[in-house]
Amino acid sequence: MSALRTLDDLLAEGVSGRRVLVRADLNVPLDKQTGAITDDGRIRAVLPTLGALVEAGAKVVVCSHLGRPKGAPDPQFSLGPVAGRLGELLGAPVHFATDTVGDSARSTVAGLADGQVALLENLRFNAGETSKDEAERGAFADQLAAFGDAYVDDAFGAVHRKHASVFDVPARLPHVAGRLVLREVEVLSKLTADPERPYVVVLGGSKVSDKLAVIEALLPTVDRLLIGGGMCFTFLKAQGLEVGTSLLEKDMVETCRNLLERSGGKIMLPVDVVVADAFAPDAAHDTVRVDGIPSHRLGLDVGPETVAGFSAALSQAKTIFWNGPMGVFEMPAFAAGTRGIAEAITKADAFSVVGGGDSAAAVRALGLDESSFGHISTGGGASLEYLEGKTLPGIAALEN
Ligand code: 3PG
Ligand code: MG
Repeated sequence: MSALRTLDDLLAEGVSGRRVLVRADLNVPLDKQTGAITDDGRIRAVLPTLGALVEAGAKVVVCSHLGRPKGAPDPQFSLGPVAGRLGELLGAPVHFATDTVGDSARSTVAGLADGQVALLENLRFNAGETSKDEAERGAFADQLAAFGDAYVDDAFGAVHRKHASVFDVPARLPHVAGRLVLREVEVLSKLTADPERPYVVVLGGSKVSDKLAVIEALLPTVDRLLIGGGMCFTFLKAQGLEVGTSLLEKDMVETCRNLLERSGGKIMLPVDVVVADAFAPDAAHDTVRVDGIPSHRLGLDVGPETVAGFSAALSQAKTIFWNGPMGVFEMPAFAAGTRGIAEAITKADAFSVVGGGDSAAAVRALGLDESSFGHISTGGGASLEYLEGKTLPGIAALEN
């Protein structure tokens, strides 16, 4: 990887009075009922970059996506509440534009004084942001680029997307990596280049199909791969076990069998699981051995023996990467597996990286001390694709 130009390079040039367009990933989880922000980790993660620009007297124009609106305004995905929270955290009002590149955005940007911050409405309210059509994306990128004299990418969670604000805008403006993007890339490159061993990876989450590429890429590199979460049931099925009504990707069973055969014993699967009558917080539940899952029940967490076994493997590790919860941690009855693994990671004498929006949110939702992890990545898909060795459009654009 060629060296990235960084925020410090831009600050050294002087940004006072200049408009700096910052792509952030402010895609925070919202409460389904109230719309309130349930985890502001991604907003806090971008504060070092924004604070430095404010301090240096830049006119800071922040843009982001939130959720997956379909190329048109959709009030449930408005960044309005995020503007409020960002202002609280910065200790100064954030001027919110009610559109992304329209009249409101133009007048908001034009009205910024030195050291003030604006936030544009959701990038994905515009079809051009995510378009596969270069010209459509380019036209939107032109409009965005008109709001900046320089561009800072601090949206690590979105660097794997070939979107206008991530890929096309940096081709139009002087561009640098923000503090968050730089730190994420430094940490993840350490994992791929020369991890201290043993290197143990823990993967959870619901779907094998989402993780297949990273499993393939990691198998030759890691010393141990611990698999929990909903996706463990497809692996258990591949071992010939019955999994009741647990999550199962039937078309992946053969693939999992093949991975297990090729893994040279590196893959560790649960030995016990918590099974329930239904996917509900108050469902009746018990812990059973993996060869005793009743046909009418579904697994919603890994069991205590699994936590003990995985924890023993983690206690030996010198490098740990963790992506994906071990169970339905949002429901207290099925949170013990995720909590136990997270605690084992914090206790290990290892450099630990938590990858992913969901795992990072789990750490905070479970009340664990964030500072006891080596690094908590703000990118889920992005960190996995980085570890897969893929070219990330947002990083490639900064390198050019
Ligand atoms: C994420 O939450 O993974 C990032 O913000 C990217 O969002 P996306 O998967 O909708 O592109
Ligand atoms: Mg995602």
